[in-house]
Amino acid sequence: MAFVTSTLNPPSNRVPEGTGGSNAPEGFADRRTSAAGDDVTTNSSSLRNPVGLYVHIPFCEKKCHYCDFLSKPGSNQQMVDYLELLTKHASWHQKAVTLDSVFIGGGTPSALPVDLLQILVEKVVGGFEIYPEAEISFESNPESFTLEKARILRAGGVNRISFGNQSTNPEELKRLGRIHTRERATEAFDCARTAGFENINIDLIYGFPGHETSSWKRSMSDTIRQNPEHISAYCFILEDETHFSNLAATGSLKELDEDDQADLFELTMNTLRDAGYDPYEISNYAHPGFECVHNLKYWRQQEYLGIGLGAVSFIDGSRRSAARSLEEYRRQIHRERHWAWVEEPLERIERLKETIMMGLRTQSGVDLDTMAFSPISITERDQLTDILDPWVDKGLLERNGSAYTLTARGVFLSNEVFTDLV
Ligand SMILES: C[S@@+](CC[C@H](N)C(=O)[O-])C[C@H]1O[C@@H](n2cnc3c(N)ncnc32)[C@H](O)[C@@H]1O
Ligand code: SF4
Repeated sequence: MAFVTSTLNPPSNRVPEGTGGSNAPEGFADRRTSAAGDDVTTNSSSLRNPVGLYVHIPFCEKKCHYCDFLSKPGSNQQMVDYLELLTKHASWHQKAVTLDSVFIGGGTPSALPVDLLQILVEKVVGGFEIYPEAEISFESNPESFTLEKARILRAGGVNRISFGNQSTNPEELKRLGRIHTRERATEAFDCARTAGFENINIDLIYGFPGHETSSWKRSMSDTIRQNPEHISAYCFILEDETHFSNLAATGSLKELDEDDQADLFELTMNTLRDAGYDPYEISNYAHPGFECVHNLKYWRQQEYLGIGLGAVSFIDGSRRSAARSLEEYRRQIHRERHWAWVEEPLERIERLKETIMMGLRTQSGVDLDTMAFSPISITERDQLTDILDPWVDKGLLERNGSAYTLTARGVFLSNEVFTDLV
């Protein structure tokens, strides 16, 4: 593919927090209305299987300077209490579903001590029926990932580790507020291999304030040399209520401009592709056959089940979120009001547009005839093609019958197409 570089927006990049991806539940339609008027699921035994599960672990050893995810440092007692809530939350669904993918994310799941990791893999995830070939991913930070933990995870059925390395430059790691060293990241990776993990992802971040191209090349080449099966390369976003946003408010943070970030995106795509990593999604690169099954479900807008603080489930075309405050989450779990949670219903046309946007992020694009929530009506098709076809004329989308993909130029300018879809 030939790319144009300048005057382009960098692509937005991350899988939304509190999600994983999945493939769920016809049975969630089976509801009654409680005396209080809340919508409560009474029978989850008719869920459509298989289902993907996201499990949120909201603890980190220290907050990084750029991150606004739902996570913070926690004491051992807080972790013990949380695992109890999670075990109860999981028990609501364990008899009803069979899993074909699991994503244990955060926060930093590897920050849990070994006894709680054991509970997590044996009682929370292990309490579900899981297909033998299911992908079970576990997010880890280098500072807390040890050989002992790797072995517990492997024995518990986890078969994919996702490391948050971010950079291999010691000075940058400090600037980003990370607490691991590049040497520790290599050791953690080696522990995972020693324990038998054959599917490893490394997360990197680029385009943050002051990020030098030469340093990014080095982080990528160091990472490629380690030969993980998968690399996620996220373009920096200045998030509110982070240390970086506080610095920006005082004028002491100089962000890279969008052209510079777009140049780094092009460099990333070319470098990783030349090294044998297929760019199957805007921020995700994999050796053939190692695409993240769980996240692909998310990008395909399939339904999913989420458990834990702030975890989102996408069911019957609407999203339901568990509370984001621990006190409120505890109340929800103790009251056993399974789905009486914050609901974000989507109009059908919004849902279709969102499906298209998520599909376009992937290399295979989206087909109006076969995407989630199809078949679509003639009116809906007209509405959607009215939005999409002008981008074909502008060279950002390619159309093949009812199927659309981003062109090489469209990948760089994807935000422009996406703003038309929100
Ligand atoms: C929220 S973290 C959770 C996993 C793990 N704790 C870690 O630090 O990698 C998942 C990924 O989100 C990415 N991320 C978080 N905040 C970001 C931001 N402001 N801009 C771009 N990527 C971000 C990081 O690259 C990180 O690896
Ligand atoms: S990037 Fe990871 S370790 Fe850092 S604060 Fe966010 S979730 Fe925690």
